[in-house]
Amino acid sequence: MPPKLPLRSITPSCLQPSPLGSAISIFATPVRKPTLSRPARVEGPVTAAPCRLLILNNHFSTSSAAMSQNNNNNNADFKLEKLFDVKGKVALITGGGSGIGLMATQALATNGAKVYIVGRTEEKLQRVADVYGKDIPGEIIPLTADVSKKDEIKRLVSEVSSREKFLSILFNNAGISLNTQQTEAKSAEEMSANLFDDPDETFEMWTDTYRTNVPQQFFMTTAFLPLLNAAHRHHDNFSGVVINNSSISGIVKTSQHHYAYNASKAASIHLTTMLANEIVQNGLRVRVNSVAPGVFPSEMTAGESDEKQKSHIPREKYESKVPAARPGEDRDMANAILFLATNQYLNGQTVPVDGGYILSAGSGP
Ligand SMILES: NC(=O)c1ccc[n+]([C@@H]2O[C@H](COP(=O)([O-])OP(=O)(O)OC[C@H]3O[C@@H](n4cnc5c(N)ncnc54)[C@H](OP(=O)(O)O)[C@@H]3O)[C@@H](O)[C@H]2O)c1
Repeated sequence: MPPKLPLRSITPSCLQPSPLGSAISIFATPVRKPTLSRPARVEGPVTAAPCRLLILNNHFSTSSAAMSQNNNNNNADFKLEKLFDVKGKVALITGGGSGIGLMATQALATNGAKVYIVGRTEEKLQRVADVYGKDIPGEIIPLTADVSKKDEIKRLVSEVSSREKFLSILFNNAGISLNTQQTEAKSAEEMSANLFDDPDETFEMWTDTYRTNVPQQFFMTTAFLPLLNAAHRHHDNFSGVVINNSSISGIVKTSQHHYAYNASKAASIHLTTMLANEIVQNGLRVRVNSVAPGVFPSEMTAGESDEKQKSHIPREKYESKVPAARPGEDRDMANAILFLATNQYLNGQTVPVDGGYILSAGSGP
């Protein structure tokens, strides 16, 4: 049964006098901790944001010519450009120079966001900015850094802070997969030899994989929290959002021949849950979600990329392996990233985008 809520006045709060003066509008709703008994906490200073009701009134008072072009304003909020609005948003994408990071970069920048792309290889990032950053409503700005190192993350934070007052979208996408193994065996001895005696399967390989795929997401998120938390004050209460790139590999029960990678991706999913929860508990306006892709063409899955930084996987390769009968495409990921970036009611979730991979492979616990 839903909890009983106190009855509220139906006068929109933006039309009521604010106890904090004119700086607070309907969009600057005080942030509450989940404990009901705690008094509302107001973060300040809060920039005045326009009142939704007044905007609506302005819509109704437009000329009849404008009215006839858009003759039912009751639906105005349902336009695609409103639902998936990333215009003027500031994004940072790690690993934006190839694969899934590049797909996300194009999705956001083409629709008006300013996107900082981060990676260790300057040429890759510059090529992405040259090929995809011209004649678009947004921007693509390369920043070279190794995000598996704390001092590099600090440098990145000061670089972005010196240019921006807020960060709307942080896509912790960079990730690596190091070793594959033969997992099929006919005896305990064979299985042990395959998995234990493999000279490339080392503790160092496991920790290197983990370092890039998990703590990197933790340190990037926590370092950028102040800038992310500032986002809602700048865009009509749109809360800053973190998207961790995990994987269906962290969900399926098969090791897919890489235990270390899959274990790291399961950790990324749980890290997402914990961060989302702790951030909410502290009353901050930052949402944390995760995207769990199936198979998408990238340097990781295809081994290389072309002169436009794009990678290719033959369609036939996945015809019988995935219910969708194909690998993921740019638009599948672009669409998911826009959804994760803009849906204000999504928090602490992992969204698989996998063509039905989990359905056929089966999930773990
Ligand atoms: N492709 C898939 O099918 C798939 C499926 C599920 C999940 N994922 C996940 O998607 C993410 C992106 O991978 P991808 O498949 O698109 O592969 P990718 O093309 O290899 O992209 C990974 C990017 O991360 C960057 N990177 C790696 N380590 C970094 C570091 N320490 N600091 C900064 N940048 C770093 C790489 O650039 P530099 O080497 O130049 O630094 C590269 O551009 C990964 O987290 C991966 O696990 C991929």
